[in-house]
Amino acid sequence: MGKLTLRDLPLHDQRVLMRVDFNVPIHQGTITDDSRIRAALPSIRYVLDHGGSLVLMSHLGRPKKKDPSLSLAPCAQRLEELLKTPVIFAPDCRGPAIEEMTKKLRPGQTLVLENLRFYEAEEDPEKNPSFAQEIAKLGDYYVNDAFGTAHRAHTSTATITRFFPNRAAMGFLMEKEIQALSPLLTHPKHPFMALIGDAKVSSKIGILKRFSTLVDTLFIGGAMAFTFLKGLITPPLR
Ligand code: 3PG
Repeated sequence: MGKLTLRDLPLHDQRVLMRVDFNVPIHQGTITDDSRIRAALPSIRYVLDHGGSLVLMSHLGRPKKKDPSLSLAPCAQRLEELLKTPVIFAPDCRGPAIEEMTKKLRPGQTLVLENLRFYEAEEDPEKNPSFAQEIAKLGDYYVNDAFGTAHRAHTSTATITRFFPNRAAMGFLMEKEIQALSPLLTHPKHPFMALIGDAKVSSKIGILKRFSTLVDTLFIGGAMAFTFLKGLITPPLR
């Protein structure tokens, strides 16, 4: 059986727990680029239009513990502006009070949970195996639409799926990106050139290695280009 998508789920009167990637740049409390929030809108609107309620969860930055400067509250507010409908913000992402908030949601309502990475167990599921179970209680179905975080085996992207057998699906953004990428990996047309950017070489090195075996030319841009330039001009350590 192929992977389920949002279209396969019976959404009416169901709580959908959706992992999104709202890891957006925020300067002094203001979101400076809301592209990632906009990218999740097709899945969000689909659930709401089909009579489901939504519990959205995401990380923001790499806090490891509570840090008010990395609260997801500005994202909830921006989402409210984009949807033109009220969005509820939960001051935490786990616990009985939050579970109660999700149970009170009515069809068409959206709740955004506080930053998952305020708990170490998000990035390191072994630290607290019950964290996944607690978060899983917040939805009847699980949807992953966080393509930007799909390379992380974290609680909310990987461990949690154990609690949703046959009730886990991918969102439209995830589906779109997989459909676009799959032929590139299996039947690439030549000449094949890839332009890869971003700041974090550490999380892109696997992709760079994989693409270097597939492409005719690999262009590296963004901040990580400087890492490669430094590697070229700095003699190796002995
Ligand atoms: C990103 O911005 O690359 C994703 O949101 C993943 O964030 P991370 O590198 O902090 O896991």
